[in-house]
Amino acid sequence: MAEPRKIIIDTDPGQDDAAAIMLALASPKELEILGLTTVAGNVPLSLTSRNARIVLELCSRPDVKVFAGAERPVARPLVTAEHVHGKTGLDGPELHEPQMPLQSEHAVDFIIATLMREPPGTVTLCTLGPLTNIALALEKAPQIAGRVQELVMMGGGFFEGGNITPAAEFNLYVDPEAAHAVFRSGMPIVMMPLDVTHKVMTLRRRVEALRAIGNRPALALIAMLNFFERFDVEKYGSDGAPLHDPTVIAYLLKPGLFSGRDCNVEVETQSPLTAGMTVVDWWRVTGRKPNAKVMRDIDAEGFFALLGERLARL
Ligand code: RIB
Ligand code: CA
Repeated sequence: MAEPRKIIIDTDPGQDDAAAIMLALASPKELEILGLTTVAGNVPLSLTSRNARIVLELCSRPDVKVFAGAERPVARPLVTAEHVHGKTGLDGPELHEPQMPLQSEHAVDFIIATLMREPPGTVTLCTLGPLTNIALALEKAPQIAGRVQELVMMGGGFFEGGNITPAAEFNLYVDPEAAHAVFRSGMPIVMMPLDVTHKVMTLRRRVEALRAIGNRPALALIAMLNFFERFDVEKYGSDGAPLHDPTVIAYLLKPGLFSGRDCNVEVETQSPLTAGMTVVDWWRVTGRKPNAKVMRDIDAEGFFALLGERLARL
């Protein structure tokens, strides 16, 4: 059995972030979580840092360290998404205030220190929110770009368009300058855009299948998803909502669930109309060098089977 893959999860919980964190916690043979770093996104930093600790305690894992990061994007005011995630960012279940502490080290310093300490190419960054912390780490220590094994990110969209604006997906819309820096950094990127996540809908039958698991994390997650999906159900008239963030962790566990191709991706930062848009050269018409493995398809049934099988282990 290979050694577990070392990961840092950078996150703005967020109900779908919670599902991703639970999936990672339920997979210790494959994944060693070196720490969670929080970023402002769905809700302000104080709440994303609270919520990350709540999810860890829900899964009886207060040993996992949480480092608070950026409280606002690198060059813009913060835009949040309480309309989707509720005022706490984790609305749905009755939740307790976390007992476990936040680490005193800043998330950006933790990311840099970890990448500089661990052998090159042995740490994977899993980003579930705006890329602010990663961009700040690159600015402070550009040499980390060559030491990252992979950056697997939920963000962007191409054939599917945007979700917060017609052109941009939320994580990249919040901090386009950070995303631009990350895509230009040269680090190996795997991109999980809306083109993938809009194919993993929390259909009623899928949520009910999770209910059968019956443990505390699964029941809390169901209450979170029931709250979280109402916005998308209203907007798209769909059965359920896209379960965005766990696709990042599922990729590490079962990459065969996904298909995509190496493409050049550029991020719009100038236009007020399309700021945060990911311009994916899927048909290779620009001649620009591919800088990301862009996923476009997923085996949705296989994804939910994996999620359910792992949640049952918590
Ligand atoms: O656009 C979806 C992304 O924005 C997800 O990461 C969700 O948690 C929100 O952060
Ligand atoms: Ca998120």
